[in-house]
Amino acid sequence: MAGELDPIYQQSIEDPTAFWMDKANNVDWYRPPSTVLDDSNAPFVTWFGDGIVNACYNAVDVHIESGRGNQAAIIYDSPVTDTKRTITYNQLLQLVAKFAGALKARGVEPGDRVLLYMPMIPEAVVATLACARIGAVHSIVFGGFASAELAVRIDDAAPKVIVSASCGIEVTRVIEYKPLLDRAIELASHKPDTCIIYQRPQCEAPLIPGRDLDWTQAEAGVSPHDCIPVPSTHPLYILYTSGTTGEPKGVVRDTGGSIVSLKWTMKNIYDVKPGDVYWAASDIGWVVGHSYIIYGPLFNGNTSLLYEGKPVGTPDAGAFWRVVSEHKVKVLFTAPTAFRAIKKEDPDGEHLSNYDMSSFEALFLAGERCDPDTLSWAQNKLGVPVIDHWWQTETGWSICATCKGIEMTDIVSGSPGKPVPGYDVRVLDDNMTEVKPGDIGALVIKQPLPPGTFINLWNAPERFQSAYFSQYPGFYETGDAGYIDENGYVFVMSRTDDVINVAGHRLSTGAMEEVLASHPAVAECAVMGVADELKGQLPVGFLVLNSDVKTDHATVVDEVIQLVRDRIGPVAAFKSATVVPRLPKTRSGKILRGTMRAIADDSEWKMPATIDDPDILDEITGALKQLGYAKKT
Ligand code: COA
Ligand code: AMP
Repeated sequence: MAGELDPIYQQSIEDPTAFWMDKANNVDWYRPPSTVLDDSNAPFVTWFGDGIVNACYNAVDVHIESGRGNQAAIIYDSPVTDTKRTITYNQLLQLVAKFAGALKARGVEPGDRVLLYMPMIPEAVVATLACARIGAVHSIVFGGFASAELAVRIDDAAPKVIVSASCGIEVTRVIEYKPLLDRAIELASHKPDTCIIYQRPQCEAPLIPGRDLDWTQAEAGVSPHDCIPVPSTHPLYILYTSGTTGEPKGVVRDTGGSIVSLKWTMKNIYDVKPGDVYWAASDIGWVVGHSYIIYGPLFNGNTSLLYEGKPVGTPDAGAFWRVVSEHKVKVLFTAPTAFRAIKKEDPDGEHLSNYDMSSFEALFLAGERCDPDTLSWAQNKLGVPVIDHWWQTETGWSICATCKGIEMTDIVSGSPGKPVPGYDVRVLDDNMTEVKPGDIGALVIKQPLPPGTFINLWNAPERFQSAYFSQYPGFYETGDAGYIDENGYVFVMSRTDDVINVAGHRLSTGAMEEVLASHPAVAECAVMGVADELKGQLPVGFLVLNSDVKTDHATVVDEVIQLVRDRIGPVAAFKSATVVPRLPKTRSGKILRGTMRAIADDSEWKMPATIDDPDILDEITGALKQLGYAKKT
């Protein structure tokens, strides 16, 4: 209804304690909290501090007690293996309790870490919930990361147990996970006590005696385990995400805040009620997968769709419509890149006419800026609200959105909407002054952040403080730049750091530069994200070689491309690099990445007044042209 949102939003900002206490009443606590917000040690904030709760109980057991046991909790749809499987809440409870027993039998205690390196199979959800059931802190690592990246996460999280599967399937390719895992454990200093491997029929992984256990072997003879009550502040998980350096940040999320906030978003943002089928077409290795494949829909008693496939090629650009119609999906959440892929293959949306889309009520997009073309294509073809919303791994749920369940406010192309209740979003300049509507600045959020956002960085509280809360005291720095218009709509324009967004995946150019710099022929390098029609951005590397290098340039380029694939993983999509005589720099030695990016993207640019050698830009333009960029220059 018109006008509903404003008072709700105002209350959330003016009296967050009353606002969130009310929402906490929708959660099943072992001991309900008597306190709500404690920000006396900001930016380290606690929510519902003395509450006692369990996330798995709220995701699974509670629905059986309320009579939803026979409802589908998970629908697994895997075109890549031609498999479909429905798991009811009753069945999910049995699977999760059994695997929780298996983890317990391997000595996993509350607070111990369990790392998951899993493809999109139901066992990944089961293992995640089993961790929550016994108070273990899970850390899921996306399957597209290579051994070296996995090793960094193993060393940081120091898991007692690692859960993995024999393979993932990328369209038609079987990707063996076990050799990647073995190599990662070899590289890491920390060694897990046990690895539990789910053997998929597509490939059998050899097991290392004494360390590895087959999933069924791990479960043999163990008793199902009940939920272990934990404090609200107990870490539910660690999720590593890219920062400006090669060292990933382990975002830590608490238990009580996550349950309260995610459950609230299901009704108020996504407008789904218990029993509705909700589909986040992402991967459990990303924050979207944590919040909206696993926890949010299950806390809310929805049926969550787990899709092991792509928007195109499995088998065609009608794949999403097939899933929506077959499983009566009400809400789909994905990244704009998925829609660009569909639009490219089926520009007229012909596949849509083959499916009954009557169940479908809304499309939510996030993960990267939604370009107006993609938005209007989706709106025209689908005929339902298409809602762009802005969020980050750190926040765990959306900062700005159209809260469809509260009020269907106008959708403004190019904007992910207005701030969601709980988020006081401002735009500041370098002097900490709020800028006028329409002026670009740093997008920041006034402290405290709402419940369910990150409470710390694993093993790095100083970095938590310095990376996010020091530049603008009293505010959380999102790392995004943008503006708010005179009607309160927020526009997210670009990152202020070296993070890029490739096919909705967040990657660090700094991490790629570290890999390039490790090649013996490379004296200096720069990686930047350039605009790409399909993936939003793609990384391009510029290499300055040592003067005594004899190897031909093409060989060095091939080698650094392979190096990034081996060290970071295929997900980096690093396929373009070029050798240049020098990098354009300011007289103080700062690489002019913005200018290089503007040339590549054919955006307007001016010769920087501080450039040390203007001629080098001609060389850079020539190199970019050869790679297929800077077409209009
Ligand atoms: N395990 C192993 N390898 C993986 C992987 C996984 N889980 N996920 C991706 N990869 C590989 C891909 O096979 C590809 O390898 P290649 O270079 O050998 O072809 C590479 O990593 C890059 O993957 P991706 O960026 O996903 O590109 P793609 O061409 O396979 O697919 C899209 C492009 C747009 C179809 C796909 O990225 C997509 O559906 N994205 C939208 C949904 C999404 O995941 N959003 C995330 C946040 S909401
Ligand atoms: P991740 O942590 O992987 O979710 O990536 C978060 C980053 O993705 C944000 O900081 C933004 O730069 C970008 N992002 C996410 N959603 C949007 C959106 N709707 N519009 C613009 N950028 C977005």
